[in-house]
Amino acid sequence: MNENSLQKLFVKCRTYRRYEQTEITEETVRSIIEDARTASCASNLQRLRYVAVLAKDKRDAMASLVRFAAYLPPEKGQPKQGEQAMAYIVILEPENGGRISDIDMGIAADRIVLSAYEKGIGSCMMLNYDAEKVRQLLNIEESMKPGLVIAMGIPAHTSTIEEAEAGSDLRYYLDEHDDYHVPKLKTEDLVKFI
Ligand SMILES: Cc1cc2nc3c(=O)[nH]c(=O)nc-3n(C[C@H](O)[C@H](O)[C@H](O)COP(=O)(O)O)c2cc1C
Repeated sequence: MNENSLQKLFVKCRTYRRYEQTEITEETVRSIIEDARTASCASNLQRLRYVAVLAKDKRDAMASLVRFAAYLPPEKGQPKQGEQAMAYIVILEPENGGRISDIDMGIAADRIVLSAYEKGIGSCMMLNYDAEKVRQLLNIEESMKPGLVIAMGIPAHTSTIEEAEAGSDLRYYLDEHDDYHVPKLKTEDLVKFI
């Protein structure tokens, strides 16, 4: 891996919300979770768990419980029939895990998204979902809660970073081909060196 290849991956690996209808195998998801397994976590307690939703009936049920692209009208942001996610990974965290679990979950989620992308699979981390219904659907034990849903599939659109000026509109938008553009602030607007 050359010096810049990670940075290139970070730039290319965006959020994807419409997917090719190609099945994702259990073996692929296992390999993605393997990369979350080896992530750093507070006190090495490893209290996160994962539910991989691959079965078509469960996927269809999940599709009705998640809300994509709140900045866009649903007819533009929500994947339609034929564009739905082909797998969901639901990260479970302890019911009273607090800030530490949330941080662990963020780290694990990023591992999952990057690992999937390296395999040609695009994904969307999601906090906008019906947690109670997800809990019932996936039969999640009382001591845990669904902390984050990650929808995934082979991307059916592109997404490109655009340079944003400080104070400008940071909402992602679609172009005439319904491809995403994502404004990102410049490094110099984010960091203070002292
Ligand atoms: C914690 C978290 C929660 C998110 N929740 C949702 C969500 O519920 N629905 C959605 O469509 N996108 C969701 N996203 C994706 C963000 O909208 C996306 O990361 C952001 O617009 C920047 O785009 P990028 O990931 O391509 O850089 C979430 C992202 C994160 C990190």
